[in-house]
Amino acid sequence: MNASAKSNAVHRFIGIPTAPPDSILGLTEAFLADKNPSKMNLSVGVYKDASGQTPILKCVKEAERRLIETEATKGYLSIDGLPDYREQVRSLVFGDSIDAGRIAILQTPGGTGALRVAADFIVAQLSPARIWMPSPTWANHPAIFAAAGLASETYRYLGSDRTSFDLAGMLEDLNQKTKPGDAVLLHACCHNPTGVDPTPEDWKAIAKTVAERQLIPLIDFAYQGFGDGIEQDKAGLQTILEAVDEAIVCNSFSKNFGLYSERVGSVCLVAADSETMKAAQSQLKTIVRTNYSNPPRHGGAIVATVLQDAELTTLWKQEVDEMRQRIDALRQQFVETMKTTGAGHDFSFLLKQKGMFSFSGLTPMQVDELKNKHGIYIVGSGRINVAGMSEAKMDSLCQSVASVL
Ligand SMILES: Cc1ncc(COP(=O)(O)O)c(C=O)c1O
Repeated sequence: MNASAKSNAVHRFIGIPTAPPDSILGLTEAFLADKNPSKMNLSVGVYKDASGQTPILKCVKEAERRLIETEATKGYLSIDGLPDYREQVRSLVFGDSIDAGRIAILQTPGGTGALRVAADFIVAQLSPARIWMPSPTWANHPAIFAAAGLASETYRYLGSDRTSFDLAGMLEDLNQKTKPGDAVLLHACCHNPTGVDPTPEDWKAIAKTVAERQLIPLIDFAYQGFGDGIEQDKAGLQTILEAVDEAIVCNSFSKNFGLYSERVGSVCLVAADSETMKAAQSQLKTIVRTNYSNPPRHGGAIVATVLQDAELTTLWKQEVDEMRQRIDALRQQFVETMKTTGAGHDFSFLLKQKGMFSFSGLTPMQVDELKNKHGIYIVGSGRINVAGMSEAKMDSLCQSVASVL
């Protein structure tokens, strides 16, 4: 122990307990230390290509090249970020379906930053609202809300088979347990961690309940383009916005632009009219100012550069399509290859699920065995990052899975 020996020193930090490690990032550390040559990390939430890399998109490289040439200042952005970026987010997420004067958009450090600003806003302006989250949800959701002092509750989401959507359970919980003015967290598409999404008909029923119960939707849109397509993935959000006048949407460009470390996302507040929007926007800005002051420029500038240029936008759409199609193909290959192992376990439910994640149905014991005996890393809940699978190692992955079933 290297204790400091200053006389009279009172050590206030001594006795602070160690926080538990992040469960998913902790698995990655174990993965990196694993010597097994056929090890595979299906735990973290990043896209990987066939060579196991998280690539920089070509459209991003080209936008960066242009930015380096033209960039004239490193001066601060305004509290709400780059105007060009915000305009592109408005058009990408909302299209022309809502009058632009009703939408406040703030560029944030990733989707996480957007969710935190939204949570702070709900606490500051909408108290005593609670937020209702699907069970299960992304592990950081309850943590972000708790850190903001926002009380959270859960509604049923996953059916008892753990592979299908429990619409009736969700609606019953929202109808019977919520109070008017509460917020409800909805994953716009590619539900994390299950990959189980509502159908268009389900969205209509959800929208009706949200409106009838006078709930504020907080829509997390972190995977636009990874479900059915960039435009198609807006369908649920649009159905909700047709039913209510007020909503908050948090989006992220971490996944669909591969801009994970650049921290780029937005919090978008939809108000009933532009006067209300302006007042709410001023409150959102106060939250940002006292938190991180203003967002980082680079990631937002990349997104704006791509989406303002027709050629780069076409390239981006192709690259998003490629990522989505590869994930779909991996789902297919996994299901087919599992059939050939003779394990007798049908994984075809994976084909109905959307995005990078799926609940595999593997138990914590099976997950442990896969890690210890085969170097295959999966989150304890059985959530698999399908994009972490590799075409070349699919046979050995399926043999390993079959051996623990
Ligand atoms: C459901 C969901 N929301 C939001 C985020 C936030 O993403 P980021 O802060 O990396 O943009 C993630 C990332 O994994 C997510 O899965």
